[in-house]
Amino acid sequence: MQSKKIASQFLILCCAMLVSVAQAQKLPNVMILATGGTIAGTGATSTTTVGYTAAKIGVDALIEAVPELKKVANVRGEQVFQIASENMNNDYWLKLAKRVNVLLAQSDVDGIVITHGTDTIEETAYFLNLTVKSRKPVVIVGSMRPSTAISADGPINLYNAVLLAGSQDAIGKGVLVTLNDQINGAREVTKTNTSTLDTFKTPELGFLGYIQGSKPYFYRQSVRKNTVDTEFDISKLDTLPQVDIVYGYANMGPVALNAFVAAGAKGIIHAGVGDGSLASTVIPSIIDARKKGVVVVRSSRVGQGIVARNGEADDDKLDLVVSDTLNAQKARILLMLALTKTTNTKEIQAMYSKY
Ligand code: DGL
Repeated sequence: MQSKKIASQFLILCCAMLVSVAQAQKLPNVMILATGGTIAGTGATSTTTVGYTAAKIGVDALIEAVPELKKVANVRGEQVFQIASENMNNDYWLKLAKRVNVLLAQSDVDGIVITHGTDTIEETAYFLNLTVKSRKPVVIVGSMRPSTAISADGPINLYNAVLLAGSQDAIGKGVLVTLNDQINGAREVTKTNTSTLDTFKTPELGFLGYIQGSKPYFYRQSVRKNTVDTEFDISKLDTLPQVDIVYGYANMGPVALNAFVAAGAKGIIHAGVGDGSLASTVIPSIIDARKKGVVVVRSSRVGQGIVARNGEADDDKLDLVVSDTLNAQKARILLMLALTKTTNTKEIQAMYSKY
């Protein structure tokens, strides 16, 4: 009698294990690559939402804090590096992009989530949008409150990001950014508030969609080429060309631009006032920079709208490039990658119309 009871319990256990294996096989395999930021931050008290320390908690602790992840994906974690994202740089970007491409080439990885500080999420997102060589989802996530805060937004943002990275609907949409139940595309997403939960927006052109009730809803996607459709290959690159940004303002002079060129910048983004206007005080320096082979892109400090070619400056005569709708920090990323291919301003201008 006792042996029968043990046998039936063993049978039940085996069935339960088979069911859980079958369920695990049905779930997508999502890698979580952790890089730091507030989502991994800790504060002195539960009400510390500013003045906390970013980049303290490791990826395993982030995953353990959200047991619900296991219901929507088979997740594995990797700490790629641990920084506050104001310290992001080209070396980190190349390391991250190469790791993403190696993992996405594996058949046992269906999507990737990158946890990241919010200060430079928009830049990392656009860099990866141009350098990831897969149509599988890559979702970047952060949080505006540290993990120790009351109503921390990190756990739900991470849950949403894993959902999105495992979703068939996110395939082929380019790199995505999700916080606050909203889905933004890498090209246009930008941080619009220093501290609120709804800081990430795509002003004027709008969100790609939302995440509601554990389901992503898409309403549009970017028409610009990304990921597998770009010409950029970073697999053999160890460095990126130095490109700096000159900020435009009333009463500006040429000192900053001259200093960047003297320091060896290969490209300059001029974030001009209005429609990318050039003050007369900087034009001689721009001409000099061009003579030295430095590529100059006219962007705008405004952040929205198209910078019109030959509008506020004679781009043909000065041999300049215009940034289309890319803000200065994103125009810088495209110019850096463009300079790994060419210094021809006509070829580079074509890239700003494509990506
Ligand atoms: N130091 C900032 C960063 O790592 C904190 C902001 C955040 O992650 O939300 O980007």
